[in-house]
Amino acid sequence: MKALVLHKAQCFCFCLGQYIAVKQDTPNTFLVLLIKECYTYVGNNTSKCYEKYSVWDGRQMSFNFIRGQRLDINLLNEISRRPELFAKGTDSLWDDPHISRHMLSAHLDPGSDAASRKISIINHTVTWLAKQFSKSKADILDLGCGPGLYAKELAALGHNVVGMDFSKRSIEFATADAAKENLKIEYIYKNYLTMDFDARFDVILLIYCDFGVLSNSERDELLKRVHKALRPGGMFIFDVFNEKCPCSKIIQKGLSIEKDGFWAEGQYLNLFETFLYPDDRAFVDQYVVIGETGDIKVYRAWNHYYSKDEIGEVLGSFNFSKHRYYDNIIESSNFTSTDVTFIVTCKA
Ligand SMILES: C[S@@+](CC[C@H](N)C(=O)[O-])C[C@H]1O[C@@H](n2cnc3c(N)ncnc32)[C@H](O)[C@@H]1O
Repeated sequence: MKALVLHKAQCFCFCLGQYIAVKQDTPNTFLVLLIKECYTYVGNNTSKCYEKYSVWDGRQMSFNFIRGQRLDINLLNEISRRPELFAKGTDSLWDDPHISRHMLSAHLDPGSDAASRKISIINHTVTWLAKQFSKSKADILDLGCGPGLYAKELAALGHNVVGMDFSKRSIEFATADAAKENLKIEYIYKNYLTMDFDARFDVILLIYCDFGVLSNSERDELLKRVHKALRPGGMFIFDVFNEKCPCSKIIQKGLSIEKDGFWAEGQYLNLFETFLYPDDRAFVDQYVVIGETGDIKVYRAWNHYYSKDEIGEVLGSFNFSKHRYYDNIIESSNFTSTDVTFIVTCKA
């Protein structure tokens, strides 16, 4: 049994979780893995608690971590344990051919916050964004533009928009969508950590807390490149999870057995867990996906949440100034925390 107490003890957020009791090896090599999930999370006056037991007949499994008809518990433990801060998974969430198909559907679902925010929130955000720009025809770069949900609205308002993303599927969709809507948007399939523009944009956007996904060294690399890509006085506008986030973030630990689901084709087992790093203001949602052939993939969605002091200091060290903070731009979220701060900062 593991107990995890969040750093903000006054929020009464905690999570208890346990899995793995193993009985095995009758003469018929019968394996039973008993899984118990037990969560309690209490934050912002909400609380939830449930327990679930699953019994699993090992004879039906072909995982290669069954060795000599025994589960290799050490391997299971090794692959699902708490990672080092900002350690990458084995695979990327964004450009896997199977996952990106599901991801694109999630982006385009107007009522979901899963990959992009709900369309009502996007429209509200675009209206707010446009009020921040000083020009009626600004040169805008949308980093991590996904399928172009913000880019196309901004282009329709008359701005010159460039979208950049390293999801091939999203960029292909966005390009076709812009052509269909007769919008002149340039979409670039590229990792924004390698972009190299020189004083080309009035505004650079990074929307849906992607700033917090970056490790500190990646973040610093991005800020250097964003600063270079902006014209003097140009604006960088982005959003981050703020310090209230751990109290409303859903802490999860458990498993699911799915067929042709979000993570993979065919049948697979998904061990998922949220790990918290309160000293570093970070958390990670980790998914260990084990396919029927025994292949194991580890996906990690990191998030660094920021205080205004911390983000102000980081931005200042890259010669950004006049930071403005906005805490109430988005309404409630059905997928992730709503405790988000938008930041507008200027190239000094
Ligand atoms: C959470 S989605 C948000 C998409 C879009 N901003 C929105 O809110 O609709 C994050 C997007 O950033 C892209 N992305 C993540 N890291 C990236 C990187 N280093 N370079 C380019 N794109 C990246 C992903 O492919 C994905 O489309």
